[in-house]
Amino acid sequence: MKDHDLETCSRPRSVGPGILTYNFLDVVFAPYSDYWKEIKKLFITELLSMKRVHMHWYAREEQIDKLIGVLSNASPNPVNLTELVFNVYDGFIGTVAFGRSFGQSEFKQGFVEVISGAMDMMNGFHAEDFFPTAGKFIDILTGQLAKREKIFRNLDDYFEKVVNQHLDPNRPKPESGKEDIVDILIGLMKDENASFKLTRDNLKSIILDIFLGGIDTSTSTTTWALSEMLKNPRIMKKAQEEIRGIVGKANRVEGRDLERFTYLNMIVKETFRKHPPLPLLIPHECIKHCKIGGYDVFPGTTVMINAYAMGRDPKCWDNPEEFIPERFENSDVDFKGSHFELLPFGAGRRICPGLAMGTTAVMHTLANLLYGFDFELPNGMKFEEFPLIEKGGLTIHNKQQLIVIPNKYQPKD
Ligand code: HEM
Repeated sequence: MKDHDLETCSRPRSVGPGILTYNFLDVVFAPYSDYWKEIKKLFITELLSMKRVHMHWYAREEQIDKLIGVLSNASPNPVNLTELVFNVYDGFIGTVAFGRSFGQSEFKQGFVEVISGAMDMMNGFHAEDFFPTAGKFIDILTGQLAKREKIFRNLDDYFEKVVNQHLDPNRPKPESGKEDIVDILIGLMKDENASFKLTRDNLKSIILDIFLGGIDTSTSTTTWALSEMLKNPRIMKKAQEEIRGIVGKANRVEGRDLERFTYLNMIVKETFRKHPPLPLLIPHECIKHCKIGGYDVFPGTTVMINAYAMGRDPKCWDNPEEFIPERFENSDVDFKGSHFELLPFGAGRRICPGLAMGTTAVMHTLANLLYGFDFELPNGMKFEEFPLIEKGGLTIHNKQQLIVIPNKYQPKD
């Protein structure tokens, strides 16, 4: 990824993503081109920059307050923390992309179902990917083609509704700094002087990337970190002591506290090492002949990068199957794309533009859960028995849902 980044930085044109992205108008699945460079720049400078990460605190805090509310009222009953964590990111990304109206339950429920259909379609088998001519016929016979078209129509209907709502002249203007991503993109669509003219289809495919890129990856990281800590109560206790010691008495952990949590930061790194949410990143495609490990790789070859195997390579890591956050003490290894043994976000041209937004959200959620609650497992289950079972497609989750009893922590005066 260092020596052959340029030669391998395109994407294969797969059928499922092609339909959902209005024929590769997004960033995630767009082949390498001047168009992709323009849209990626837009993501980095306008949509997911550090400035935006700071502007989005209000949206993160709203979701964290909801989570704290549900957990505080639950005890002594068990809750499904996997579902609640998903709701945090779904609510956060929804607010950032569509605005506060996203929370209206009827709209949100329908949209979550449509997005999960789109995720299945990304992961699903399409004969046309393997046999470009005969495959389409097979997909018609198996009903895959009709299914693809239905999922796309549902998704497009939702996006149309949101864009029309935002274009309504009677819609109250959002407060400055609280514009959602659709507002920003509509502004760019209307901007006569913009260097790059955005269309309605561009806008819809960009929004799709934000939902597909942001929710599942953050949910997977947070639930793996919690799973590992439930299995290793020593680590959970050490993290709680760090956070509670720094925060003192408060209603919740604030964004400004996050950079002081060095142990929690090590836990997040160790989670990315042992459980990269996208173990094979997203498939790349070779655009220029190159040699890798002595083999000829020709244009058109799909290149899979195995971040999972690198994170568990015994040549790079001691006891790689063990979850040991302390391995990052006195180490400068980071996940930002320059240490090739740890690549949860990829590296080079295709590196994830949501790195800052994703890690901030994960740290904020974990810090609040660990600060505010002590957890028990139901039915007398012992911590060391907590199962870690990998399952998934593009994204890998713990198949074991986190069913826990949350006990509210009361800081001493
Ligand atoms: C824990 C959180 C996240 C992880 C682990 C993650 C991981 C990744 C990975 C592995 C890739 C592919 C890199 C490659 O192909 O080499 C990627 C690409 C991408 N991610 Fe993320 N991501 C996260 C959060 C986000 C968020 C919050 C967003 C947006 C809201 C986002 C948007 C994107 C986009 C647009 C791309 C495509 C970049 C390109 O193809 O040039 N990601 N991400």
